[in-house]
Amino acid sequence: MIRGMDRIAAQSSRQDFEARRILVTAGPTVEDIDPVRFISNRSSGRMGVALATAAAQRGADVLCIHGPLAIAFPPNPSIETRPIRSAAEMSAAVMAAIDSFDVAILAAAVADYTPARNFNRKIKKGADEFSSIQVKPTADILASIGELEKRPYLVGFAAESENLIENARAKLKRKKCDMICANPISGNANAFGAEYNQVVILDSNGNTCETECMSKLDLAHAILDRILNTRIS
Ligand code: CTP
Repeated sequence: MIRGMDRIAAQSSRQDFEARRILVTAGPTVEDIDPVRFISNRSSGRMGVALATAAAQRGADVLCIHGPLAIAFPPNPSIETRPIRSAAEMSAAVMAAIDSFDVAILAAAVADYTPARNFNRKIKKGADEFSSIQVKPTADILASIGELEKRPYLVGFAAESENLIENARAKLKRKKCDMICANPISGNANAFGAEYNQVVILDSNGNTCETECMSKLDLAHAILDRILNTRIS
């Protein structure tokens, strides 16, 4: 169990990610239906912003590719931010940049489906198009990176409302990640939009480690600690 108190030491001025390049995805994506409406989700982007901030505090050069955030990004010269809107834009931005990173942490809540048709005029109430909006799948960015021959150390998140460990371990394997942070999102333990979060960190060596519920910045440091301990560099 990783406890919040353990994190105090990690927030010292330790520069253990110096000269590392870290890519972080954050926030929701927004899939436009027409000029007025869209499909999105409850992600605030706080976890991704915390990961980018923690990595920069520890000396990393960070690129954060993010959807619309509910919070302001704290300015930091070591963090380059690249705003996008849709899953397709996030995928294109990530895949264009991925080559030059040591670690990629995909914390964004990417839409799994996008409208098959994008209307450039507002759909009128009662129109046929409204009764069933056709959707098509988006590219899975995490899985696409997992398929690359040369890829960074790859960390995903798994938002699960049931069978947390089992589903997360299956996701870790299916998407060929090195590590996955399993996020319970049922009942009171819903991290979406919250200030605090609690995860179970699973890695491809079969290790499992549960954290306490802690601030997202503390949790980001705990995840970075696990990356350093697990990664053979
Ligand atoms: N992810 C991604 N691209 C997508 C969908 C998800 O890169 N199109 C990434 C997320 O950033 C996260 C991980 O995949 O790191 C798992 O996301 P999650 O929503 O938990 O899983 P899904 O693959 O969408 O599966 P399901 O909705 O069935 O749980």
